Amino acid sequence: MSNFNESRRRFLKQTGLGVAGLTALPTLAKAMEGMGMGGMHNRHSAEMEMPKLTPTKASPNFHPDVEIDLFCKPASIPILDGSKTSVLQYTAKLVKGSKDTITDIPNSFLGSIIRLQKGQKVRINLHNGLSVPTITHWHGLHVPQNMDGHPMYSIDSGEVRVYEFEVMNRASMNIYHSHQHSATAKQFYLGLGGAIIVNDAEEAALELPSGEFEIPLVIQDKQFDSDNQLVYSPMMHSKMTGFVGDKILVNGIANFGLDVSSRAYRFRVMNGSTSRIYKLAWDDGMPVTVIGVDGGLLEQPEVKPYVMLAPGERLDVWADFSGRNEGSSITLKSLAFAGVLPKMGMMGMHKGEIPVGSEYPICTIRVKHKVSESHKLPMQLAKIKRHEISDTANPNNPLPIGISEAPMAMLINGRPYEFNNPLPSERVKMGSVQLIEIFHAHGGDMKGMKMDNNANEHEKHESGGEMKRGGMGMMGGGMMDLSMAHPIHLHGQSFEIASRSFSGDSTAYDTVREGFIDSGLKDTVLIMPMERIKIIKPFQDFKGLFLYHCHNLEHEDMGMMREFSVE
Ligand code: C2O
Ligand code: CU
Ligand code: CU
Repeated sequence: MSNFNESRRRFLKQTGLGVAGLTALPTLAKAMEGMGMGGMHNRHSAEMEMPKLTPTKASPNFHPDVEIDLFCKPASIPILDGSKTSVLQYTAKLVKGSKDTITDIPNSFLGSIIRLQKGQKVRINLHNGLSVPTITHWHGLHVPQNMDGHPMYSIDSGEVRVYEFEVMNRASMNIYHSHQHSATAKQFYLGLGGAIIVNDAEEAALELPSGEFEIPLVIQDKQFDSDNQLVYSPMMHSKMTGFVGDKILVNGIANFGLDVSSRAYRFRVMNGSTSRIYKLAWDDGMPVTVIGVDGGLLEQPEVKPYVMLAPGERLDVWADFSGRNEGSSITLKSLAFAGVLPKMGMMGMHKGEIPVGSEYPICTIRVKHKVSESHKLPMQLAKIKRHEISDTANPNNPLPIGISEAPMAMLINGRPYEFNNPLPSERVKMGSVQLIEIFHAHGGDMKGMKMDNNANEHEKHESGGEMKRGGMGMMGGGMMDLSMAHPIHLHGQSFEIASRSFSGDSTAYDTVREGFIDSGLKDTVLIMPMERIKIIKPFQDFKGLFLYHCHNLEHEDMGMMREFSVE
């Protein structure tokens, strides 16, 4: 069993390995000193409180190709007719680098689009212009622990934190967003999110549609009050299921529409909602052609009747409008589906809310110009460095990510989030490739998890098998099935999906099962109730604490988050 001193030693050792960790070390040691150590500790107390570190400064030995000042501050933007809406906003200013690094989306609260090249050395100076602490995470990028925006690196109002890293990812669309501890959902929802697009030579050689023919579509849902102000007030029910809005915004714009020419386009789609899951399809039955996912291009395009897109996931969609007439239009919709929410009925729904799993439009595309030239869809896209299960360090003993749901307690491996207190199964060797199994841990299904004497009441209850499949809970006097879908996100390197299996009554599952793209590199994967997913994830290059969590951000903020300690 880990004790405080051991964890502390381990932690200091890890953070000492990064450049910035070295400068932060004295402060960190002091912070941890002051935390009342010694004697027995209780795993579930504040024993491993998040330290407050001195913001990292620029390193004189780092010579950036690109340098960006990234500000986050309150702003006021017209979104709906009438009053402007108060938001929080990222704005990027180029200090060094080529002009196409930064693109602002006009009239949008969404952060500037940041475009980077693989191999570039990047410095980003994060300026906290909010009245509260914040920290920014580069979701999808493979960067050292101390550059990853772990909430321990949060900065106060007025402070500046310097990030320095090399872009190691292949071409892909990534996300930058707030990762402020227990306020990620709120800060992202109020506007602190944006897209980072990485380009590389392999992608460039494909000559995919670019410039005005490559269009980001960041899909979010928001709730507005009668004065057009954003409402974010998750109550008991909406913390469990996720907070959902009454309006769908694309790129921060309500009733988003797009004028196109009759040719091929590349849509870079991101789900930037806190909890809403979409089932994307074209309204006229045109299949959805997917050329990439979270971690970049697929090897070959996949053609689907519809595609599921959960919070944190991205899709690279090829849409060819050639042959369509001037004046015609096509709508990107979310189709009806079932099975992602607990069976709690309409309880707690607010007025106007667009129900998750109902059918609604997302954006309308109008063909403005008839043209004859177009790009052709390449049948071979990019190479993916693949691993077999037999290449992993633990082919017969996957590391567990066991999800359990209970009223107000969304847990992973039977535990809420704990700073720097990894379970044995959460300690992995740097350089290894691990097999990981994501599953619903109910009843006696807590496979691979060792309970210790500190196990809390909830765990004893669950592992004792008294609670049956589905994480039954008492609410409002009745028993209900709380199992639901969770988009599980792992920081660090992308992973491959090795298998997905489902058992049970598939009536609801049948409404989503054709919508998963498992052939590409991922950093977020949606697990449906009664599903088990095996993934293969490398833990290369960097030691330290790397978060993994549910990207239903209400769940994340409730503590459905853990850390891998890469050692
Ligand atoms: Cu997109 Cu840890 O988050
Ligand atoms: Cu992330
Ligand atoms: Cu979740």
